[in-house]
Amino acid sequence: MPRRFGLLRTLCVLATVSIAAACSHGTAPSTTAPKQMLAATPPMGWNSWNKFGCKIDENLIHETADAMVKSGMKAAGYQYINIDDCWMAKTRDAKGNLQPDPTRFEHGIKALADYVHSKGLRLGIYSSAGTATCENFPASLDHEIADATIFAAWGVDYLKYDNCNNQKRPFYLRYEAMAKALRASGRPIVFSICEWGENNPGEWGRRVGGQLWRTTGDISDKWSSMLGILDKQVGLEKYAGPGGWNDPDMLEVGNGRMTYDEYVAHFSLWALLNAPLIAGNDLRTMSDSTRTILTNKEVIAVNQDWGGMQGARIRKDSATQVWAKPMRDGSKAVVLLNRGERPATISVTATELGMRAAGSYTVRDLWTRVTTATPDRITAQVPKHGAAMFIVRAK
Ligand code: GLA
Repeated sequence: MPRRFGLLRTLCVLATVSIAAACSHGTAPSTTAPKQMLAATPPMGWNSWNKFGCKIDENLIHETADAMVKSGMKAAGYQYINIDDCWMAKTRDAKGNLQPDPTRFEHGIKALADYVHSKGLRLGIYSSAGTATCENFPASLDHEIADATIFAAWGVDYLKYDNCNNQKRPFYLRYEAMAKALRASGRPIVFSICEWGENNPGEWGRRVGGQLWRTTGDISDKWSSMLGILDKQVGLEKYAGPGGWNDPDMLEVGNGRMTYDEYVAHFSLWALLNAPLIAGNDLRTMSDSTRTILTNKEVIAVNQDWGGMQGARIRKDSATQVWAKPMRDGSKAVVLLNRGERPATISVTATELGMRAAGSYTVRDLWTRVTTATPDRITAQVPKHGAAMFIVRAK
């Protein structure tokens, strides 16, 4: 669990003010499709933490890579197989390098990366901007160059960089040191900043060299957790764009403690928020309904829209909300969210969505896959703890 440091937070709030002033970044969406950019669209993949915690080994990673291909997840756009905490041995080697646990990762990370690459996928790994990881394995503070160098030599493509055991040292310097070391490694490695949103990372995550930054503490497989995180995304949309994404944490879809409708809502909202779509379930044994949610190509297309404009909450009633995302082609993606305990009829007009005036709009339901037309109003019956998702387009 994240440890929190009051003094650090105070220092960092002060630091954020000056850094933000010194480092204001343009996040306006580009007008051309970005090329040669890391994470031009939100990264998609899988991570071991939500389902497996520390119970990980190389077989799990092999089998997950296989399942990623067989299940159709790879075809749907998922790429990264990310190993979270607990992959390391308890100590560094004689040269001071990080080394994998000799039993659970007997053949080493390079062999795993080669295997994952042979499947057309990419490998991610984890460390902390502290003296130890959250589970007390060796981490990278003051070892940034050595660790980035070895990650690159192993063929790692993505680093999730946590915030535990940070010795209360300034956040900006800790994350900047690793970002620089990754760049100097010569290998393109996506840098996933996991600072739990403590110091408003939207203001500095891109500038420091991150492609994504966690905006909150950890998600858990509960409707209330997912909604709590959702509420903290309001207003962050201004920070997202090609090459830099708000990260409301990994997906819990398929982990078993939410209903089908709750997972549909979770996935719809994360897609609309341009969240990195990092599955956190067991891909080897997932049910058809879980696979159907995770591989819904029309919902994924909203997330991956190259314009990279994050969706925002545009209406909040007592139990229902409307979220909308401008798509690059002028259409709008819409999520009608029912947080209540009974089914609800939710509607929104094209005018409220800020669409150009048109005689008629087509409304594509991304879950039922039915297209209808309307002169202005879009209405759906939404189950309790559920969501409907549409693309609305002026005819
Ligand atoms: C922190 C992170 C989690 C996970 C764990 C691993 O809590 O926020 O996402 O990586 O550490 O220990």
